[in-house]
Amino acid sequence: MAQAPRGAEGIEPVLVVIPTYNERENLGPVLDRLHKALPDVHVLVVDDGSPDGTGELADERADGDDRVHVLHRTEKAGLGKAYIAGFRWGLAKGYATFVEMDADGSHAPEDLPRLLDAVGDADLSIGSRYVPGGSTVNWPMSRKVLSRGANVYSRIAMGLKVSDMTAGFRAYRRPVLEKLELDEIASHGYCFQIDLTRRTADAGFDIVEVPITFTDREIGVSKMSGDIMREAFFRVAAWGVQRRVGQVKRLFGRG
Ligand code: GDD
Ligand code: MN
Repeated sequence: MAQAPRGAEGIEPVLVVIPTYNERENLGPVLDRLHKALPDVHVLVVDDGSPDGTGELADERADGDDRVHVLHRTEKAGLGKAYIAGFRWGLAKGYATFVEMDADGSHAPEDLPRLLDAVGDADLSIGSRYVPGGSTVNWPMSRKVLSRGANVYSRIAMGLKVSDMTAGFRAYRRPVLEKLELDEIASHGYCFQIDLTRRTADAGFDIVEVPITFTDREIGVSKMSGDIMREAFFRVAAWGVQRRVGQVKRLFGRG
């Protein structure tokens, strides 16, 4: 098994990938908080041509700071596609650890040191709202129900023992992203998170969950949509069937 070496030394250099779509007012403060908490990490902003000028703001930040990089994409193609482009960029540059983090302040950069500590002894660490000590703050009941429901549904469909499969605050060690076939990942929306969780587990990597507090954004709007929900619903059903068939085949010694 190609696991990452254990211990804190092996995790550097760290790249924090931040996908953005219309996050102009949120991006500056989140970058400031991140570099206050962890001065040495590098950041890649992956902007899908935000009409509000987030991409230009990211360029300005990158101009005066070697730690900040920007990837411009021409159209809004979903969170999953933005992360894959960001991971590819970072793999080519030789980073050892890849963090996923939202731009809107929902993921506290101050929690990142704990996430990185945890990934030193694992392959993927997930900032989880649904392990003891984790929580959501200021989320409307409708989002709480949706998020809980998505996790219960995914767990039942696939039989994975991860409490927060849709979590978007994570740290991956390089061997995980090298092993997963990034070309094969078709997920566009937030089911990308579930997709990577199942692929990481199926490849035999160690996943740990670290409790975090997810605080709903104060500025701008969520990009959650009916399309994103539908995509997740159907893909999880298909992955569930696939996994269950695999389990049955192994049971009868045919797989
Ligand atoms: N480049 C790019 N392209 N960025 C995107 C896109 C896109 O199509 N869609 C969303 N983003 C960016 C947003 O700008 C933000 O930085 C981040 O992705 C998360 O989007 P939000 O719209 O703030 O997500 P949310 O708060 O509704 O959902 C959060 O919780 C979900 C489930 O619990 C996120 O953390 C999701 O990743 C998570 O799955
Ligand atoms: Mn958000």
